[in-house]
Amino acid sequence: MRITPIVTVLLLVTASCIKDTPDPPGGQTDTLNDRVEDWLSEMTLEEKAAEMHGSLGLSVDGLWGAGGNERLGIPAFQMSDGPRGVTAGASSTFPVPMGRGASFDPELEYQVAEVMALELVAKGGNVLLAPVVEVLRHPAWGRAQETYGEDTHHLGVMGAAFVQGAQTHVVATPKHFALNSIEDTRFDVDVTIDERSLRELYLPPHRDVVDAGAGAMMSAYNSVNGDYCGENAPLIRDILKGEWGFEGVIMSDWIWGTHDILGMVEATLDIEMPAPRFYGEALVEAVESGAVDEAMVDDSVRRILSTKLRFGLDIPEQVEPAVVESAEHVALTLASALSSMVLLKNDGALPLETGLAVAVIGPQAVDANLGDVGSSAANPTHAVGPLEGIEAAAAHHGATVSLVVLPEDTATADAVIVVVGLTANDEGEQIPFFPGSDRETLLLHTADVELIQAVAAVNPRTVVVIQAGSAIVVDPWVDAVQGVVMAWYPGMQGGTAMGQLLFGDANFEGRLPLTIPHDEADLPLFDAESFAVTYDYWHGYRHLDHNDTEPRFAFGFGLSYTTWSYESLQATTSEAGVTLTVSVQNTGDRAGAEVVQAYFGTTDIPDRAPRDLRAFKKVWAQPGETVEVVLEVKHEDLAYWDDGWNGASNWTIEVGSDHRTLPLSTTIAIE
Ligand code: BGC
Repeated sequence: MRITPIVTVLLLVTASCIKDTPDPPGGQTDTLNDRVEDWLSEMTLEEKAAEMHGSLGLSVDGLWGAGGNERLGIPAFQMSDGPRGVTAGASSTFPVPMGRGASFDPELEYQVAEVMALELVAKGGNVLLAPVVEVLRHPAWGRAQETYGEDTHHLGVMGAAFVQGAQTHVVATPKHFALNSIEDTRFDVDVTIDERSLRELYLPPHRDVVDAGAGAMMSAYNSVNGDYCGENAPLIRDILKGEWGFEGVIMSDWIWGTHDILGMVEATLDIEMPAPRFYGEALVEAVESGAVDEAMVDDSVRRILSTKLRFGLDIPEQVEPAVVESAEHVALTLASALSSMVLLKNDGALPLETGLAVAVIGPQAVDANLGDVGSSAANPTHAVGPLEGIEAAAAHHGATVSLVVLPEDTATADAVIVVVGLTANDEGEQIPFFPGSDRETLLLHTADVELIQAVAAVNPRTVVVIQAGSAIVVDPWVDAVQGVVMAWYPGMQGGTAMGQLLFGDANFEGRLPLTIPHDEADLPLFDAESFAVTYDYWHGYRHLDHNDTEPRFAFGFGLSYTTWSYESLQATTSEAGVTLTVSVQNTGDRAGAEVVQAYFGTTDIPDRAPRDLRAFKKVWAQPGETVEVVLEVKHEDLAYWDDGWNGASNWTIEVGSDHRTLPLSTTIAIE
């Protein structure tokens, strides 16, 4: 048995909008295979090798090319990065994936990915280098913002939705396979991991995107248990292609992702990116000298050619350039930002009422902050910053907004919005000559904390808006303020979303996709300088549970302008798994959204976290309305690894609104 926290929510709620991976043109697998074999039989060894590598850097239109053969009419892969928007030229720019993870909304994520894919096709591309499906092992990871969060199940659901949305138009490339969650040493760090942690926690999201039909995967720079990921036969050959039956292509990560031709061939890495260090002339020579069997080359080329045909790259889709940043796409960036922001604290400060005099202050008050400037840096033509967005909302409410520099000048305002947080200088992808790195602390900058305290000292109605890619420890200042909003890096309409949420034109829907501890010592920092790191079973909420530590804000937590009650949890088992039903009522006086979460725990398995997320569903309800929620969990999702997959029989199921607020529980026995 294996664990696949497969996309139960997707199956339930998105059947109508999620399409399968494209069928081969004409729907004829035999025809497709014949075409592949025809091409292969006509290709010289040099031409085969040329399919297996990138074509030296970015083409003029900002796309990375790989393969392609004019003589035989074989199309090239044309790739662009995601995952917050297409990085080739200007594009619709969404909140970073950590923010979209906070939406807990796979249907929306599907639409976001579909839009990115359309914009990529409009720019001549056909492969999107996204999503990132790496478990957030620690919030100080420099690229934390590029993944969806710390929980294996939630990450798999969101990643699978992205893949299926993107693959309505292009090939998606989930990355980085695997265990790539330290930035400063990413090119060389060796991650040692035990089989149980690997199988139960870190690999399932990768498995989920494969099950969702991903046409490509990207290996990681780091090594795992002694082998670089691009040359890791246990990971690529045995698990990805062997156990999981992955039929697409796996490409290396860029420039420093390959080291040894024999290792690459043995692992069955299909494509070397972005240029032929080993898979060009060196591969031809290795075959000619007998060091590499040509059959191995043929296997990879077959995969490459059939992926191109399966996704119809030989008959490029025509998409008007006007779709890029179209009104509809920009509106989706706003919807995404609205659903991503998390209200962490509200002692009556929000929503802001009509007619107020609002002061806005802070180093991030004016310019839009889109996040990292590494490979994921999408660039919109215009991004709405906090001030612009707050002013726009205030205009509808007869409120006045003034930008203030000195804390004492906020004293006369009716309310103050303090916008602080991190920038690309604090966290981001580690690229030589770029600012990105892992974080050294989970705290805000000292100057930000001093500013918050100085404002709160003169104005009781102080609301802090944080822009950052991952967890921020708030304990040093949170008691001094009345409101806190985690806005993440919210994309091109981030300011608009902030204004609408602060003034109550929209309700907060975001929930934390990670745990915020009281103290950064509760989630001890990893050694960002070490080239040998061990990953274990305990990270995020598991780590806190394991150490009997209360979080400041639990995984899944988020307030809104309404309240919810939970009733009547029922669990039934069937051959397929466990079906949960629960009634959730909006008990407040505002329409809103709730993310219903089901956690499973068992004492049958030794040394296990007391509760793991196994299903969630976002629902919307009017005041007083009750929604019957159905959650499905497959038996495989309850398996555990102990030298192979096993099943436990006695489970406690807890249902509620976050990892620590679980008002309903029941037990089940599974034969
Ligand atoms: C990053 C990848 C990215 C690639 C191409 C690498 O350095 O790790 O995530 O897709 O560059 O830009």
